Amino acid sequence: MNLSIELFGIRFKNPVWVASGTFGYGLEAMEIYDISKLGAVVTKGISLRPREGNEPPRIVETPCGMLNSIGLQNPGVEGFLEKIYPKIKDVDTHFIANIFGETEEEYVEVCKALEEAEKVVAYELNVSCPNVKKGGIAFGHDPVTLGGLVEKVRSSVKKPVLVKLSPNVTDITEFAKVCVDSGADGLVLINTLLGMRINLRRERPDLSTKVGGLSGPAILPIAVRMVWEVYERFGGQVPIIGVGGITTYEDALEHVYAGASAVQIGTANFYDPYAPLKVIEGIERFMKERNFKDFRQLIGRSHRLDIKT
Ligand SMILES: Cc1cc2nc3c(=O)[nH]c(=O)nc-3n(C[C@H](O)[C@H](O)[C@H](O)COP(=O)(O)O)c2cc1C
Repeated sequence: MNLSIELFGIRFKNPVWVASGTFGYGLEAMEIYDISKLGAVVTKGISLRPREGNEPPRIVETPCGMLNSIGLQNPGVEGFLEKIYPKIKDVDTHFIANIFGETEEEYVEVCKALEEAEKVVAYELNVSCPNVKKGGIAFGHDPVTLGGLVEKVRSSVKKPVLVKLSPNVTDITEFAKVCVDSGADGLVLINTLLGMRINLRRERPDLSTKVGGLSGPAILPIAVRMVWEVYERFGGQVPIIGVGGITTYEDALEHVYAGASAVQIGTANFYDPYAPLKVIEGIERFMKERNFKDFRQLIGRSHRLDIKT
């Protein structure tokens, strides 16, 4: 049974990755399990300069999920290379750097600074963070600007460039199209959805930023729908990485059957750090029980079956 998969010229030992911002750089998880079992680790967003993020409160629970407005706190690309990279460079799995900037040039500079860091095999451009005014969202919500950014980064760096799309748009396939036309090597969907909670004791919004990004089981059906739509339009042309609401292997397989070639586990890491390992085991069990020999048989499978039967 083959769970490994080659995407954009890179072989991943399995299709289960961890999502940006929910796993740090893997350092904490390393203390409780062997993170080389993961297909890949996507880092917390990395910017050109260090950022402190937003004022607290910046996390609040919601029914079946959470709202966050961390604001892309990170040590900057030099801080990452100096303090974090030496601790992850010998881990036997791939790292994907999640990148964001305020300008095209900043995105390019951050990627370029990581070109020689071998352990980082690809870049995931965050054009969709809802929690900072200039966290890429200006790119993610305007197709023309997005196309320009993807083209610029793609033509400036050697490693594969994935684009993480915002779900806070009317038609995500339009944004996917711009990325595909501009040379993106993969599409990652979705980032968090805009949401708000009001704290009745304080009589004001819970989050300091008022609005934050909704994640967790509540968003699974939205993410699966978006993966389905993008696969229907571009299936086979570009790999889709499904993220949003995955806690169990069944959730992960919904993404895969809808069209995802790999999945990322996000919020679930906060309440069950072992969730990604359980998802890997669950997919293996499922494939064995149903006699699937290769994971690729599952990708987009529901599109090939007659819906009525
Ligand atoms: C606390 C927190 C921080 C996040 N930080 C980032 C980030 O830095 N860059 C990014 O592209 N996405 C970030 N995300 C979005 C996740 O990677 C993921 O797209 C989203 O949470 C949906 O997946 P989930 O429902 O499995 O959590 C963050 C999410 C959370 C909850």
